[in-house]
Amino acid sequence: MSEIFRVMDFEDLARVIEIEKELYDFPWTKGNFADSIQSGYACIVMEKGGFMAGYGVMMKIADEAHLLNLSISRNWQGMGLGRKLLDHLMGLARKEGLHSFHLEVRSSNDVAFNLYSSSGFEEIAVRPDYYPAHKGREDAVLMRAAL
Ligand SMILES: CC(C)(COP(=O)(O)OP(=O)(O)OC[C@H]1O[C@@H](n2cnc3c(N)ncnc32)[C@H](O)[C@@H]1OP(=O)(O)O)[C@@H](O)C(=O)NCCC(=O)NCCS
Repeated sequence: MSEIFRVMDFEDLARVIEIEKELYDFPWTKGNFADSIQSGYACIVMEKGGFMAGYGVMMKIADEAHLLNLSISRNWQGMGLGRKLLDHLMGLARKEGLHSFHLEVRSSNDVAFNLYSSSGFEEIAVRPDYYPAHKGREDAVLMRAAL
């Protein structure tokens, strides 16, 4: 059962928001996703066996790709799908002729940090107090990979 990648549309948003709420303390809203679709960002759904296993959102600025969201539904985590989705997005960026891929990750998010650092990303900076947190704020680690 291989995974299918397709473009996200407005009809996907109800399920996307369910997954978003299941995964994040500070989830994106339906409006955030709708704006991303309307702005022409690469909004990609990954399906496995007919189910939405995850999704990603990537924005292009000049010759850089910026990852805005990468999410795998809890039931499907730890099976290699996050890496496949990231590879797919990096492949799209390469096809567009982009030269580098940037992202931000919460400093406490070891799983995502491990995924990115084992996929060729290097830490380039820390943005202090970037994210909201339950107690105060949390730093963002900025990472970059050459494409
Ligand atoms: C982060 C996320 C996208 C990773 O996707 P995933 O499908 O769970 O991860 P994969 O199975 O593809 O594993 C990829 C790598 O992540 C790391 N990883 C996965 N599970 C891990 C765990 N439990 N502990 C530590 N590292 C882990 C490993 O480096 C792994 O590579 P390896 O299997 O070669 O060792 C997914 O867990 C997720 O959606 N988490 C919640 C939302 C989130 O944090 N998104 C990222 C925001 S920046």
